[in-house]
Amino acid sequence: MTIDEMTPRTATDLLVVEDVSLAFGPVRALQNVTLNLKRGEITALVGDNGAGKSTLVRCISGIHRPNSGAITFDGGVIHFHTPDDARTAGIETVHQNLALVEDLTVWQNLFLNREKVYGKGPFALLNRRAMKREAENMVSTLAVNVPAVTSRVRRLSGGQRQAVAICRAASFSSKLVIMDEPTAALGVQETAKVEELIHKLREDGHAVLLISHNFEQVLRLSDQVWVMRAGRCVGGRRTAETTGEEIVGLITGALAA
Ligand SMILES: Nc1ncnc2c1ncn2[C@@H]1O[C@H](COP(=O)(O)OP(=O)(O)OP(=O)(O)O)[C@@H](O)[C@H]1O
Ligand SMILES: [Mg+2]
Repeated sequence: MTIDEMTPRTATDLLVVEDVSLAFGPVRALQNVTLNLKRGEITALVGDNGAGKSTLVRCISGIHRPNSGAITFDGGVIHFHTPDDARTAGIETVHQNLALVEDLTVWQNLFLNREKVYGKGPFALLNRRAMKREAENMVSTLAVNVPAVTSRVRRLSGGQRQAVAICRAASFSSKLVIMDEPTAALGVQETAKVEELIHKLREDGHAVLLISHNFEQVLRLSDQVWVMRAGRCVGGRRTAETTGEEIVGLITGALAA
């Protein structure tokens, strides 16, 4: 199924990836990938190990630049040079390895690289009180279960760390939150908690791109699913119109797209 058959191009598209290719030397990590993401929806991206999912995420979030093709976000073609450019545009990413600093506290992690300061230039002072207060708000709005915003991240469980990373991504007026395997390392209860957070993000109007190897989770959470195999996007389905078996068939290639 092509992108146009599945989801005609409309103003509800928040992100459109068109014909994107990227090679690392001889490795063709992405080959003519085309897919879209709608505003207010959870879109799942699935595929076997090495299919190119994280590479595509890194293209969208400003870490890699595609060799060819175009990515349109919120109506404009993007030319991100750094992850900060993507953040400024409203794209927040929770990467496969969370990128939290263990020795810092929860609030310090939430405000990492966007510290609030008094004054300007070399004499600016950190406004710790404002950041702590706002961190409390961020954590309570998302009903994130962390001991205190002053706890160091190294003392948190895997689920609590994931919650802090999601909380950071959900804040700062992001339009799209990308999550690469958010529950891969979590137990049953922590997974349920993170899934609640993902639902909450959609309720609050964020679009979500969710990468997951857990088919039940994908069927439970997503509105649409894109499948990648060996660097290509081999098909897409509305979640309500597919099954776990069909998705597995697309992933393994047993089923033609
Ligand atoms: N920086 C890089 N340099 C060279 N090759 C890379 C690089 N990043 C990814 N690749 C290769 O690109 C391909 C796609 O990798 P990618 O990490 O995107 O897969 P993935 O779908 O996220 O897999 P997983 O489910 O295991 O996380 C793999 O063959 C991988 O080895
Ligand atoms: Mg990956």
